[in-house]
Amino acid sequence: MPDQVAPLSQRPAWKALTAHAATLKPQHLRDLFKSDPARGTRLTAEAEGIFLDYSKNRVTDDTLKLLIELAEQSGLKPHIEAMFTGQKINITENRAVLHVALRAPASESIKVDGEDVVPEVHKVLNKMAAFADQVRSGKWLGYTDKPIKNIVNIGIGGSDLGPVMAYEALKHYSQRDLTFRFVSNVDGTDFVEAVHDLDPEETLFLVASKTFTTLETMTNAHSARSWTLAKLKQTEAIARHFVAISTNDKEVAKFGIDTANMFGFWDWVGGRYSMDSAIGLSTMIAIGPDNFRKLLAGFHAMDVHFRTTPFEKNLPVLMGLLTVWYTDFFDAQTVAILPYEQYLKRFPAYLQQLTMESNGKHVTLDGTHVDADTGPIYWGEPGTNGQHSFYQLIHQGTRLIPCDFIGFSKAVNPLGRHHDMLMANVFAQAEALAFGKTAEEVKAEGVPDALVPHKVFEGNRPSNVLLANELTPEMLGKLVALYEHNVFTQGVIWSIDSFDQWGVELGKVLATKILGEIESPTAPAPTAHDTSTTNLINRYRATK
Ligand code: F6P
Repeated sequence: MPDQVAPLSQRPAWKALTAHAATLKPQHLRDLFKSDPARGTRLTAEAEGIFLDYSKNRVTDDTLKLLIELAEQSGLKPHIEAMFTGQKINITENRAVLHVALRAPASESIKVDGEDVVPEVHKVLNKMAAFADQVRSGKWLGYTDKPIKNIVNIGIGGSDLGPVMAYEALKHYSQRDLTFRFVSNVDGTDFVEAVHDLDPEETLFLVASKTFTTLETMTNAHSARSWTLAKLKQTEAIARHFVAISTNDKEVAKFGIDTANMFGFWDWVGGRYSMDSAIGLSTMIAIGPDNFRKLLAGFHAMDVHFRTTPFEKNLPVLMGLLTVWYTDFFDAQTVAILPYEQYLKRFPAYLQQLTMESNGKHVTLDGTHVDADTGPIYWGEPGTNGQHSFYQLIHQGTRLIPCDFIGFSKAVNPLGRHHDMLMANVFAQAEALAFGKTAEEVKAEGVPDALVPHKVFEGNRPSNVLLANELTPEMLGKLVALYEHNVFTQGVIWSIDSFDQWGVELGKVLATKILGEIESPTAPAPTAHDTSTTNLINRYRATK
């Protein structure tokens, strides 16, 4: 395991960055570009077909040098090696963190507790591929011998957000005569709407849950079972209409799914890092095994880049360090993810779990309170829709919101001038945010004095522009891995465990307790809560 490092505020680079930030903050990006025009081409990095322009950030070469020193003093290199070699860096759960093994080529060997996990990964991939081919070719028949036409993934969190994001992102590559639906919420509407126009005879449910105990998923899976049996009557039908994706074969069998119809994964895959494990079965059925392997190859290419490239040119490291820079030295609370690609419409939602469940921690690995702010809030919408909604605040509000613009040179669906218009907006927004418009410029346009302050754009608002060639399965893998390792870099700097999620537990426990209290009409009114919660429960019991 990597050596323990000094608390963040004691690291020399941190102290130097604190002093440096004070001198840099008053400087405007307009001046930084004026005194150093070459920064527009110098402060860029390119790898695996992704070009990162980070020149419109409030940094200089000195900032970058210090941030990289901080990464070194935080032990980023040994931490990367520890992750890639299967050491148990998820210390609160005593687990290895090996999503990188899910996309390792069969020739590689990665050991956990002395056992090579790569052959197992490929065994599951082959089983998924055989199953996906059967469904795609119409050979997998339902109980009444009709081919499957509808695939419904039931899962939540990492067992939903990755599959739905990837399905939407790669719809262009999907088999269009199959219908895909995703059910996650325990709100019955989610299930009812997902199946309202489907025929149980032609519907296959993929019950996706790492633990196979998650309340929402199990409740939806039981409703799906009842919905299926209402038409097909015989319990033997379940075997043709349900498969499980899980690490927990006991619970899968208990639910009534034959473990022969189970696709496994392992405790060293975190839920939010699992879209390229068996959890990606819906993706594989949609785009086919060959495209799924291209997706994995994209992930792997970014893994190799992250592990082997010097920090100065390392995309995830640079992006992670910039996020630490704004979070801790500019008091930025959020990061906006702005994909200018309609197919990436669920990418911001996917990144919310990846980033916020990973780095929403206030305690360091040694159990002490972290001495800086951690995980920013990630949010966003695809461009250009956001421009007509929340960009006003990014341009003229009082908060600093670092933005990641994501654009592509080629349109997946070329249509007249659409793509050039879309991309013109990427470049325009990043330029407007950085350089703004001064009062003098506004006045020169003949704007009346009273309106000038309203029309001034302060600028000096930072952004990254990520420019890739085209959204393909391979490129999606690269983009997701880029953010996975970006999050990892941030977590190492803050010395937190980016791979546990204890913060979700308390609400779950309380909900189970309260469910018992509201479901039983004869139970006495609850008294063990605070007066507000008791009052709400009683009101609900009386009005439901
Ligand atoms: O409660 C949070 C969480 O554990 C996530 O980390 C996870 O992705 C989600 O629930 C679903 O868990 P499972 O795949 O075990 O159903």
